[in-house]
Amino acid sequence: KDGSLLLAIETSCDETSAAVVRGGREVLSNIVSSQIETHRRFGGVVPEIASRKHVESITVIIQEALTEAGVSRQAIDAVAVTQGPGLIGALLVGVVAAKALALALDVPLIGTHHIAGHIYANRLVGDIVYPALALVVSGGHTELVLLPEEGVFKIIGRTRDDAVGEAYDKVARALSFPYPGGPHVDKLAHQAEEEIVLPRAWLEDDSYDFSFSGLKSAVLAEINRTKMKGLEPSFGALARGFQSSVVDVVTTKAMRAAAEFGARQLLLCGGVAANRGIRERLAALCGEAGLPMLVPPMSLCSDNAAMIGAAADLKWRRGQFSSLDLAASAQVSL
Ligand code: KG4
Ligand code: ZN
Repeated sequence: KDGSLLLAIETSCDETSAAVVRGGREVLSNIVSSQIETHRRFGGVVPEIASRKHVESITVIIQEALTEAGVSRQAIDAVAVTQGPGLIGALLVGVVAAKALALALDVPLIGTHHIAGHIYANRLVGDIVYPALALVVSGGHTELVLLPEEGVFKIIGRTRDDAVGEAYDKVARALSFPYPGGPHVDKLAHQAEEEIVLPRAWLEDDSYDFSFSGLKSAVLAEINRTKMKGLEPSFGALARGFQSSVVDVVTTKAMRAAAEFGARQLLLCGGVAANRGIRERLAALCGEAGLPMLVPPMSLCSDNAAMIGAAADLKWRRGQFSSLDLAASAQVSL
């Protein structure tokens, strides 16, 4: 049998999600229950509350995924789950649910890396060509990952401080937007007619690492400086300046890495892949370079279980199963 029917579970942060994926490519259902409304009043995700919310909804979400897919539990070939990285209490809920199901249904368990999930969300939209270079941008991650071949990951660059989405959310807060403010900053940056030029953190010449905390501080400093002069800071010009800096650095490094490592395809993924600035610039640069680019639709960019099913299918094909003592892990290498 070459087409797996996987039940996938993702609970690494503030989305409780379950999906049924066939052959790693076909999404039969992908239920995502977001806790954003609950966390918004705290200005960010509160880990303890996230865990409790996952506990409340996990069984319902799994049942919904099966029902919507129109498959019975007995038809499931394996249960895939995000093992990490993420919030440990949140991960635990998914891992325990997955183990219980795998045991009850007597099918294999497949522990899956969250970032492998984000990257392989691209399997759901097209064929991956290797070597591929993935630009992973989300609220918790900013990584350049080289995939020399299927299932092999080499992290060639990562953020040294804030993740891109995190920087967007912090700047958004300074500009008085509610959490998560990334999309608001993106929109404002596009509407703004003026731009306050802010620094670009290129780091060492040969580095593919990123740094965004200095840029975020530059935005805050500019706001304070303007207010001290008794003037109103231009939020639009700041949003545009911030976005320009992020887009320049992120896309330039991605293109340089793609050229250096001979990538035949560029994969954009993670929640911040929704960013219009990044999407448009990267698409333009890839077009110029003749480099095919894949990017999943928004519903598959933010945290969801279908992407975990897409990544887990590759392990299923190789018979790479996890034992029932699989441990959730806040930090686990790709
Ligand atoms: O992947 P994701 O849903 O969750 C994590 O795994 O982190 O990413 C959420 C992050 C948030 O920080 C949110 O502000 C950011 O993605 N985001 C954006 C945009 N849409 C979502 N940041 C910038 N521009 C956007 N259009
Ligand atoms: Zn994520």
